[in-house]
Amino acid sequence: MKKIISLVLALALVLGLCSFASAEAVKKVGIAMPTQSLERWNRDGAYLQDQFKAAGYDVILTYSDNDNDKQVNDIANMLSQNVDMLIISCIDSAGLNTVLDEAAEKGIPVIAYDRMIENDAVTYYVSFDNYTVGVLQGQFVKAALDLDNAGDKVFNMEFTGGAPTDPNAFYFFNGAYDQLKEYIEKGTIKVPSGQTTMEQVGTEQWSTDTALSRAQNILGSYYADGTILDAWLCSNDSTARGVVQALDSDYAGGNAVVVTGQDGDIANLINVVDGKQTMTVYKNVANEAVVTLSVAKAILAGDEIDGAALAAAQEIECAYDTESYFSSEGHNTPSFLLVPTVVTKDNLQYLVDTGLYKWDADQKYLEAV
Ligand code: BGC
Repeated sequence: MKKIISLVLALALVLGLCSFASAEAVKKVGIAMPTQSLERWNRDGAYLQDQFKAAGYDVILTYSDNDNDKQVNDIANMLSQNVDMLIISCIDSAGLNTVLDEAAEKGIPVIAYDRMIENDAVTYYVSFDNYTVGVLQGQFVKAALDLDNAGDKVFNMEFTGGAPTDPNAFYFFNGAYDQLKEYIEKGTIKVPSGQTTMEQVGTEQWSTDTALSRAQNILGSYYADGTILDAWLCSNDSTARGVVQALDSDYAGGNAVVVTGQDGDIANLINVVDGKQTMTVYKNVANEAVVTLSVAKAILAGDEIDGAALAAAQEIECAYDTESYFSSEGHNTPSFLLVPTVVTKDNLQYLVDTGLYKWDADQKYLEAV
């Protein structure tokens, strides 16, 4: 009998400890987003926060006004609040080195979210296939101008890239440029401004105003004499808005210019319907949040992660890639890469079908749900 009682007591103690342990085990996740001034990051922050809270985690969410010093501070604060994991979309990849070294010293895992960060504290990268985003934009221009059947015809085009501090900007630009390079080399495409490198076409902070004033300068310098512009490759929607505004106010050509973008921002979708922007590459950031949560869960549970199996188990199409991204030279970062989609005036219903957009009362433009 004594034995039974002590067994019951021991069991009660173990159960007690277990429930104490699980009460202790609410994990805290720090989510650092770059800015609220660009539409998509508001959605990312909200989806990530909702997903992680619903899964039972404590969440600290910060936006850093596109200011690297503020993001460093925000992340340092999270570390001082003993977060168990960091999920970061950086403003300036190189600018986070010191604070990420601190995270590494503390053994805090870091997921680079959407934007890769070149620091070995990064344990996993969750994003879309960024190079493919650019490829889709370049291929779109190629098809829209029918470059393969151009004969002797010469098309004029210009480029606007993203923030040089954001590693994604280079993937997008290179993906697009690689599709168009051969036509530039053989003279089917002419770039009257002569600006064809990221150093020349990059846009600090992906700013609409900066893209606008550069586009106005180019139009004033190279197209004021009536030169026809056929296409303007823009890496994303915030820069495309600036270019479209410049075309509205400063381009005399009168033809519809092919303009690319990325993200599916509401203002850009209005431009797509109105024929001012031709396409956008859509990346479903709600899905990006879902995949991030599942990677985070596996890390926080201390599981040995089989990346390929984890990617295959997602309901969302996603590739496991260990070769494309690096946290430093020779250090590949295992990455989960979702698939981007081309959206034009003709398949806007695709966005409505995601459940994240709806038609307005006139069934003409899209609104956020
Ligand atoms: C994102 C794009 C976004 C851009 C500006 C990039 O890192 O991948 O979706 O348009 O930042 O916010």
